[in-house]
Amino acid sequence: MSDLNVRDKDTIDFMLTRRSTVAKMMDGPGPTDSDLRKIMETGMRVPDHGRLTPWRFIVIRGDAREKIGDVIAASYKKNNPDAIEEQIEIEQERLTRAPVIVAVLSRVHKGHKIPEWEQVLSAGAACQNMLISAQSMGYAAQWLTEWYAYDADVKAAIGAEAGDEIAGFIYFGHPMAEGKERARPEYDNIVTEWSAAG
Ligand SMILES: Cc1cc2nc3c(=O)[nH]c(=O)nc-3n(C[C@H](O)[C@H](O)[C@H](O)COP(=O)(O)O)c2cc1C
Repeated sequence: MSDLNVRDKDTIDFMLTRRSTVAKMMDGPGPTDSDLRKIMETGMRVPDHGRLTPWRFIVIRGDAREKIGDVIAASYKKNNPDAIEEQIEIEQERLTRAPVIVAVLSRVHKGHKIPEWEQVLSAGAACQNMLISAQSMGYAAQWLTEWYAYDADVKAAIGAEAGDEIAGFIYFGHPMAEGKERARPEYDNIVTEWSAAG
């Protein structure tokens, strides 16, 4: 039973101050197996209209990061035939910026009475829940898509099925330094209250 008198101040304070750490400022170790499982369980505990579970999570770590990096680099080279070697190397090493990455696939049930838009939103919620839970455990985390989230070869290599979209690659590690705060929106620019008087 809920009790409105029980307010978790730590959670609110955390939510009001949490921030991401850029992947290039991450180091090992990544989340332990049990923490990673918890992080992904929070990703599954999201609003999901119609209980369609319209998302899948693919863990990428260890050598798999370089193997998929090879695909990323090859695709980059294919699409940018004039690319210089240094650039291709950057692409090859993208996933090695962090020890653990979770690719979140948005797997929409097409033609279902639950609108596709709502299913996509649920995948976004899964990403955000994983960010929050990992950061609350002290891990560095960042939600990235970059160009390769939209690349057919990369999507196929990580096991995306036809129709899947990559909602994000969530990078997890340890922060190498305290993340910089970024400008946040002004409350009054975002929030209005509707009133019949207009
Ligand atoms: C769907 C999605 C994709 C993103 N992709 C990128 C990206 O490709 N490159 C980038 O620099 N930031 C990207 N970001 C933003 C980063 O996650 C950024 O670190 C974030 O805005 C910091 O927010 P926070 O400190 O509130 O967590 C993306 C954010 C979202 C929601």
